[in-house]
Amino acid sequence: MSSLLPLEETLLFKPLRLGAIQLEHRVVQGPTTRMRSTKESEGVFVPNDLNVEYYGQRASKGGLMLTEATPISRYAAGYPGVPGIFTPSQVAGWKRVTDAIHVKGAFIFCQLWHVGRASCPSFLDGRKALSASNIPISGKALDGSEYADNPPKAMTVEEIKETVDEFAAAAKRAVEAGFDGVEIHGANGYLLEQFLHDNINNRTDAYGGSLENRCRFPLEVIKAVTAAVGADRVGIRLSPYNYFQDTRDSDPNGHWVYLCEQIAALPSENRPCYVHMIEPRFDEVLDEKEKLDALSAYTGDKKGVEAEATAPKKLVGNTLDHFRGVLQKAGIKFLSAGNFKRENAVPKLDADAADAVVFGRLFISNPDLPRRLKEGLPLNAYDRSTFYGADPPKKGYTDYPFYEEEKRANGTA
Ligand SMILES: Cc1cc2nc3c(=O)[nH]c(=O)nc-3n(C[C@H](O)[C@H](O)[C@H](O)COP(=O)(O)O)c2cc1C
Repeated sequence: MSSLLPLEETLLFKPLRLGAIQLEHRVVQGPTTRMRSTKESEGVFVPNDLNVEYYGQRASKGGLMLTEATPISRYAAGYPGVPGIFTPSQVAGWKRVTDAIHVKGAFIFCQLWHVGRASCPSFLDGRKALSASNIPISGKALDGSEYADNPPKAMTVEEIKETVDEFAAAAKRAVEAGFDGVEIHGANGYLLEQFLHDNINNRTDAYGGSLENRCRFPLEVIKAVTAAVGADRVGIRLSPYNYFQDTRDSDPNGHWVYLCEQIAALPSENRPCYVHMIEPRFDEVLDEKEKLDALSAYTGDKKGVEAEATAPKKLVGNTLDHFRGVLQKAGIKFLSAGNFKRENAVPKLDADAADAVVFGRLFISNPDLPRRLKEGLPLNAYDRSTFYGADPPKKGYTDYPFYEEEKRANGTA
């Protein structure tokens, strides 16, 4: 018998209404890029049998799954092996995924992605990557070239409008592919965040300069996508405290509270049913303490004259609570992600600091994560070396054992 605490009686296993769907528990599978889809042609990758198996394994009755980030158009992409949602073959491939998870009573949202400057010409038929400005990411792109040797192109207003339309068209295709909804990827340093963060967006037109202008493009995307598929099928992911891909906003607290206020003030037909945020403590490279120390060195934890100048809302402390409060008043549900484990998930819900908890890496290594948490069963550790592809592709993807298999393998069944 396991000595771990079963979480069955906790809020984690209480139902939740999320827009058009009714969840039976609040253990959400986070969006995780796994780079294991089949290449159909240059820049076009299609969901395959292995992807169907992977999502099918992780489906649980009444559970919510978020797909890996999914390019909305041929030139929204930045990485090989990543399935898009812009060709009929991709829609057909995803339909097999959504069918497989629906059979098990789960729900799935497609995460709609435009990488912006996190791409390179060799992946874009020689085109320049698009962004808010021509400021490149530091370091090397995936093809080994220096990002700085191919700086992005600052988008024209026409290109912004086209991209808003592409988000809406991709959302419609996602619904056609059987998705229960879509999550707009406004996090982790990709295109929409490149407009939000003030260390990247140095535009002087209606899409840059002031805070209001920096938020314009993401808000236009929300309006277009909700108009296309219905607000009760749309969420958005945001990461105010993100450093990944060289984002570093001068005032995440004040600036994202403003954005949340704008989202909360949208008419009901354009108001997304949830906002999904990443905890300040999470970082791609730094550990929790290093990340929180680094953040408080320049954000809302600042005191004195400098804080007066840069933190108009005078929000103290780097916490998602600032945003949760604003959104909750407008009836927008809140999903929280970043370093959640068995121990800290329930306290987050008990404190009413989120409506559901999102697990990324632990869902990679535990196909039956909801059951393991519910029944107090031990968790498999994840293997970072197989996160972004492996040889064979099933390694670290579909071969993590379910609890019963693990017991058999250990001779304890
Ligand atoms: C392998 C891997 C791939 C990821 N891919 C995505 C992605 O496609 N979209 C996204 O928004 N976040 C992505 N993330 C971030 C996760 O969704 C999550 O926010 C992060 O892993 C923190 O949660 P965790 O501590 O539960 O893993 C990825 C993380 C990992 C480890």
